[in-house]
Amino acid sequence: MVFDTVRAHAHEAGVATPYLLCNLDVIDAKMARFRAALPGVVPYYAMKANPDARVLERVKALGGHFEIASIYELDMLMACGVDPREVFFSNPIKPLEAIRRAWEAGVSTMAVDDLDEIAKIASVSPEIKTYLRLETSNTGSDWPLTGKFGASTAEAIEIIDHCAERGLPLIGLTFHVGSQCRNLDNWHSGIENAKLLFARMREAGLTPTLLNLGGGFPIQHTRPMPTIEEIGATVHKSLDGLEPEITVIAEPGRYLVGDSAWMVTRVVGTATRKGHRWIYLDVGCFTGLAETLEKFDYELLTERHGPETPMSVAGPSCDTADTLFDEKMLPEDLSAGDFVLIPNAGAYTTAYASTFNGFPLPVMVMLGA
Ligand SMILES: Cc1ncc(COP(=O)(O)O)c(C=O)c1O
Repeated sequence: MVFDTVRAHAHEAGVATPYLLCNLDVIDAKMARFRAALPGVVPYYAMKANPDARVLERVKALGGHFEIASIYELDMLMACGVDPREVFFSNPIKPLEAIRRAWEAGVSTMAVDDLDEIAKIASVSPEIKTYLRLETSNTGSDWPLTGKFGASTAEAIEIIDHCAERGLPLIGLTFHVGSQCRNLDNWHSGIENAKLLFARMREAGLTPTLLNLGGGFPIQHTRPMPTIEEIGATVHKSLDGLEPEITVIAEPGRYLVGDSAWMVTRVVGTATRKGHRWIYLDVGCFTGLAETLEKFDYELLTERHGPETPMSVAGPSCDTADTLFDEKMLPEDLSAGDFVLIPNAGAYTTAYASTFNGFPLPVMVMLGA
């Protein structure tokens, strides 16, 4: 039924494939479910997941706040009328000019995870509030985010003492459990660690007021995932005993938009190489499915009913890296020109796309628009 709807719309929309077909109403439902499962946790949409202006406007209309990774994302938000005072700058390493521009525009709260970044921020203004990104377990996340960012406990203590001694407003702590996280314990251990470091902040003379749980809240995708209600119950239990003056926020990206859209694509061609079947789609890792580079899986829906056989699935570019799946079970009668629909493609697809090999960026079409 879903396939019929998408297929009918694909014809009506009259845009070339690949494109993202989005149902904005899904975002309403996901926001409501997030708030119900995590009462008291304020959602700041991680717009890197999908920065389409219509998505931003919908999140804004739902009363969501925003988290940005760059000054360019701030520009997009301001173009949609978002108040910069409701924006957190969560990239732990930012260009000096971006810090200055964001501060002058009204963004007052930014992530740090190193003394060098703290010095940069303080050189713009010692009044900029910061929250410290902590290293945390990413075990069991489909898209881990460890290593590049996050202070160890020893580094965190050094940063806390440094800020306390200089009167710099370090106001909180944050961590990221890894995107599409399957492991409830990551949230539990992240919060427990934050509680210990909040105590350390108080001992040093700081006044913590913010706990930012980051992102990682998963969508129901190709394998069993904890529900948002299960995550909410774990978070709720772990937050027990947290001082009431600490505001808890989170930065859901994928959870809010991931299942709001299908990638609508077509088979460009087929081939048999050494007895193995290949299909080539007009969407690839450079035109939207970048997460396949790290083995992120997608379901492929077709209208064919032939016997299924393992196939290699590739994108349209000339690059070998643009091989999406090595052994996808697909109907052997799948042919050039056929539609292939990819559910749960609303996050980290169009946002990652490039025009490599001259292929145009996939546009986003709104269902019902
Ligand atoms: C700082 C930060 N917050 C939030 C997110 C959103 O994560 P997710 O899409 O898993 O919710 C990311 C993703 O990279 C991030 O880097």
